[in-house]
Amino acid sequence: MKIDDFIMMKKKGEKITMLTAYDYISGQIAQACEIDIVLIGDSLGMVIQGKKSTIEVSVDDIVYHSKAVRNGAPEKFILADMPYMSYHLDINTTKQNAARLIIEGKANAVKLEGGTESRLDAIKALVDCEIPVCGHLGLTPQSINLFGDYKMQAKTKVEQEKLLYQAKNIEQAGAFMLVLECIPEELGKTVSENLSIPVIGIGAGRYTDGQVLVWHDILGISDISPKFSKKYIDLKQVISKAVNSYRSDVKGKEFPEKGNVYLAVE
Ligand code: KIV
Repeated sequence: MKIDDFIMMKKKGEKITMLTAYDYISGQIAQACEIDIVLIGDSLGMVIQGKKSTIEVSVDDIVYHSKAVRNGAPEKFILADMPYMSYHLDINTTKQNAARLIIEGKANAVKLEGGTESRLDAIKALVDCEIPVCGHLGLTPQSINLFGDYKMQAKTKVEQEKLLYQAKNIEQAGAFMLVLECIPEELGKTVSENLSIPVIGIGAGRYTDGQVLVWHDILGISDISPKFSKKYIDLKQVISKAVNSYRSDVKGKEFPEKGNVYLAVE
């Protein structure tokens, strides 16, 4: 999968699938299941590290998880999130941080949040260094301290016009893709129709060019179940059952069995 393939998929009306992954096994599964894009989301701060938000995630964290996913998914298009404050200072720092995700993390592209002038400058600077950039608008989780809560964005007409304006600017700045999170379905449709780059939604309705979800949400490992997500299996329950069986086998002296032990003389 290459950037041109995603543009072609949009042109043909073929939906693009994106899923987060954070380690070797999830990378392997994403590759075997033919997910189009694997996202090393800074959601790892919450689902892997147990933090309350994404804002404490570091460039080192994303590099570490991206490398692990790359080991499991050698041929996948990997998109890595630029953490909070890794693209907010000067352009050189932004370039250095993005380059670490590409060179050390072995990602193919980076994603950054927001659509203000300084974000457009960051996008232009990275594209100028041959680093493909995906934008992210709507509910941008790194803005949690401004938003106060993880809730739907762009409710009013003015906010919707602003988001569409920023989306067009992000495309103009050279981004190859845009993620829209938690916005009204009608706006997701309008933005997708007005952009020639693919628009990937998470809680942005049915009409975006593709969808992205979080690994732990679709598998039912996390404790939260957002309205926009879909739990395909209750893996937390399945895993707990297996762990309980192991525990009771050990307590009941049923594990290890003869076949699980090494003998000095076989
Ligand atoms: O960090 C993440 O997982 C994301 C998705 C929610 C789009 O950015």
